[in-house]
Amino acid sequence: MKTRIGLVVLSLFLSLLIGISLGNRHSGASSGKDAKDTGVVIGLSMDTLQEARWQADRDIFVARAEELGASVLVQSANSDDTRQMQDIQSLISNRVDVLVIVPHNGKAMARAVKLAHEAGIPVIAYDRLINDSELDLYISFNNILVGELQAQFLVQHLPKNRPARIVRLYGAKTDHNSFLFKQGQDNVLQPLIDAGDIIVLHEDWAENWKPENAKKITNAAITRHGTDFDAILSSNDGMAGGAIQALREEGIAGKILVTGQDAELVACQRIVAGQQAMSIYKPIRNLATQAAEYAVKLARGKPVIVRDSMFNGLIDVPSVLLDVITVTRDNIRETVIADGFHSYEDVYRSIPASQRPPRLHSQEHP
Ligand code: BGC
Repeated sequence: MKTRIGLVVLSLFLSLLIGISLGNRHSGASSGKDAKDTGVVIGLSMDTLQEARWQADRDIFVARAEELGASVLVQSANSDDTRQMQDIQSLISNRVDVLVIVPHNGKAMARAVKLAHEAGIPVIAYDRLINDSELDLYISFNNILVGELQAQFLVQHLPKNRPARIVRLYGAKTDHNSFLFKQGQDNVLQPLIDAGDIIVLHEDWAENWKPENAKKITNAAITRHGTDFDAILSSNDGMAGGAIQALREEGIAGKILVTGQDAELVACQRIVAGQQAMSIYKPIRNLATQAAEYAVKLARGKPVIVRDSMFNGLIDVPSVLLDVITVTRDNIRETVIADGFHSYEDVYRSIPASQRPPRLHSQEHP
């Protein structure tokens, strides 16, 4: 008991320390403007807008920042490290008050953090960690939990009377999140793999998370092992789409369990049509809204207090890690639809009205 109370006090104390250090590191150092009197300018450097989620991230972030009186300069680097460095250099020359970065390559962007700090600009890593740098704040979801939920779903639905045969699709190696998703999946799967209950037939990393690369990996798995497998553990919806395309070409879409992440509209449509088994819903609204609020606070030199931290190879970065939810055919109305993430109409678009489940009470008048 004493130890627990000690730990609670220690963690509160650490939170305070993290908050204080966050607030003080760059106070008054930004761009020489009087941040109290003028609106602050946020630089948002994004890796890509490839997955539908990133457009939502951008739009919600910008809307919230503007509500708070800030303006946002947005750049998107099209999965190119050189371009992202140039984007960031131009944002720094534009004297932004804070930089928010979705890194394409978490390691390459350490240099961006250094350059920003030399110009007195604090940096927030958005959704993906920036490694080996003195990053000011990291805001994301609980990404290890994402992987655990994907694997737990898989384990619950795999055959129990014989070893299950699976294919694993990992994300981009340049993205720190890909390793966190895998780590979460391994937490659940490794004991079963060791016991021989699950056989991993084929596994690979998809460069830049591209659906066409996921399709190629699935094709390679089928060429080597045939179509006699039970599941594809895909780390996100975009790749699930590529994998399902490969399954379609073999005429086995819907027969093999496929996982995903992001609750993209097309993935939700595949889920209700029975072609994809699940996705992970990450409430982007919470992430983008909170990130905008933290960005404005940091830009104004105000203290920011957070509970978590994440080691990035150099420091324990003060972190905000938000919760995620498994989405299946059974709970899609209570989760993504209830939240207004997608409408009932859009999700069930390809399902004949007579085969749709009823709208939930609260969704009767869209
Ligand atoms: C994000 C996922 C996204 C993937 C590809 C990851 O870092 O967490 O939500 O699907 O990148 O963009």
